[in-house]
Amino acid sequence: MKIIISFTFLLLLSCVTSTQIQIQTTKSVFNLGKQITFSREKGNCLACHEIENGEFPGNIGPALKNLPTRFKNKQQLREQIWDATQSNPETSMPPFGKHKIISEDEIDQVVDYLWGLK
Ligand code: HEC
Repeated sequence: MKIIISFTFLLLLSCVTSTQIQIQTTKSVFNLGKQITFSREKGNCLACHEIENGEFPGNIGPALKNLPTRFKNKQQLREQIWDATQSNPETSMPPFGKHKIISEDEIDQVVDYLWGLK
């Protein structure tokens, strides 16, 4: 009996810690994505786009919010950031992936961050 109780306790404990770790990683991916999006050396997306909590945004492009209503899925959003000239050859938005302005991983982080903005 004692063994069963302590086993259940351990199981519960491990569940709690693993959810906590998960929440932490989700949060840090979010922050990293935000950093890349806002940083002048990286995405500098604020130069042209209004983004939640971003100071002094430009308005050359549309506000980046509610993106799940604009794109079918994250992959499609990723393609827009990787090479915006695919959807509009005349666009002023730099092809971040194609021209290696930011890395593939950084694009993923930006996508994860933007996808969650309301
Ligand atoms: C030099 C200006 C400029 C910069 C910098 C820029 N964009 Fe854009 N972006 C645009 C313009 C203009 C559009 C409008 C669509 C077009 O031109 O095809 C656009 C469109 C978009 C769209 C589509 C939005 C929609 O609702 O259709 C997304 C998503 C986007 N940009 C993300 C980004 C991200 C992420 C960054 C930074 C990594 C970024 N942009 C940097 C100019 C820019």
